[in-house]
Amino acid sequence: MHAFSYIDGQLHCENVPLQSLAEQYGTPLYVYSGNTILDHYQRLDLALQGLDHEVAYAVKANSNLSVLRLLAQAGAGFDIVSGGELYRVIKAGGDPAHCTFAGVGKTRDEIIYALQQGIYCFNVESAAELAYLNEVAGELGVVAPAAVRVNPNVDAKTHKYISTGKSENKFGIDFDAIEALYDKAAVDWKNVRMRGLQMHIGSQLTSVQPFVEAVKKVKPLAQTLKDKHGIEFWSIGGGIGIVYHDSLASGQLEWWQQKEEKPLTIEEYGAAVVPLLQDLGLKILLEPGRYIVGNAGVLLTRCLYEKKGSAKTFKIVDAGMNDLIRPALYEGHHEIAPLQETVGELVKADVVGPICESGDFFCQDRAMADFQPGDVIALLSAGAYGFVMASNYNTRPLPAEILVDGEKSTLVRKRQTLDDVLAGEL
Ligand code: LLP
Repeated sequence: MHAFSYIDGQLHCENVPLQSLAEQYGTPLYVYSGNTILDHYQRLDLALQGLDHEVAYAVKANSNLSVLRLLAQAGAGFDIVSGGELYRVIKAGGDPAHCTFAGVGKTRDEIIYALQQGIYCFNVESAAELAYLNEVAGELGVVAPAAVRVNPNVDAKTHKYISTGKSENKFGIDFDAIEALYDKAAVDWKNVRMRGLQMHIGSQLTSVQPFVEAVKKVKPLAQTLKDKHGIEFWSIGGGIGIVYHDSLASGQLEWWQQKEEKPLTIEEYGAAVVPLLQDLGLKILLEPGRYIVGNAGVLLTRCLYEKKGSAKTFKIVDAGMNDLIRPALYEGHHEIAPLQETVGELVKADVVGPICESGDFFCQDRAMADFQPGDVIALLSAGAYGFVMASNYNTRPLPAEILVDGEKSTLVRKRQTLDDVLAGEL
């Protein structure tokens, strides 16, 4: 579900008209629906009923403190990938004892900080990292909880930049080498305790089949590690895809109806994986990011100019690839919805930003409502990997962020000023 819909011809987030937010806070502006975030979290929790489980929200998808606070209060754990993300989680009231620390390149400082804070587990991605974790924990006189990320060599069938579970990806350790590493850790590394096993095959998976394949493939290994080394959890990662092609904007058939495809639903995901995991007796962790926040956010941007060339029409808006990089980096699709519902003919145009790069577009040759300079549009499904990937490229201040709850909207991050952007430079 998501909470962006037209009420009396005006696009709303929950009960707040987005036009009023654009006027009050300016554009570009990220707006999140708090109730959509909670609904997704709860639906996932429900879909995993029958399993001893924990949802460790992947902080990287959207790390605004208010979003983290919402999820912490709902009972979520957190999957972090840096000392900075751990710092955020703690600031937001999250419990380090429910944090897993992922990533291929943890630094000494990050390891020390996470050990001091008492995180639940380090998800380790190489033998060298496990040895180093043992060394640093030894210096501190503590035992570090660890899990190894297994690379199951399964094709996630997603964009090559967000596919992680194949042998040629930099992530995890080859399936065949895992058991020997746990054996070695038990004998040689007294300052690590192997607490679990982890995997993650990629992001934005739109079919349940690769998840099932990976779970089936790794399950015997999880069983062996439990029997032999007493591991207590298995994290099966994140990656649950969302629907980016939404009929809201175009009024046309939903894309899966056109393509005779169906999106992956969380209920379908649960129904497929829960029965496979039930008899293991391990705690199952999930690390969803996009599923929780992706469709809970939009990026509002105002049209500045229209340019009709001989080959194309360009609608130039005030957000750029520095604010939302997904189209440029992954050919990501974001629906475009004008804030005022329109019923007229669609026009074919490119929506482009002000950045001096040809890759600075939000869509190309797409049929859309014929919005005009001055009008504000929403780029949908921008709640995940939107603001968090924004940069100051072209010395553009980072946008503001708003969190909506029913009729109420709260500024949860101020728009950067130019002095904020330059702070720290000499
Ligand atoms: N766990 C691990 C170890 C991960 O690397 C990731 C995402 C997740 C969980 C969460 O995946 P999710 O449930 O959100 O798919 N910037 C890209 C996505 C990068 C994903 C990186 N890892 C995008 O905008 O599509």
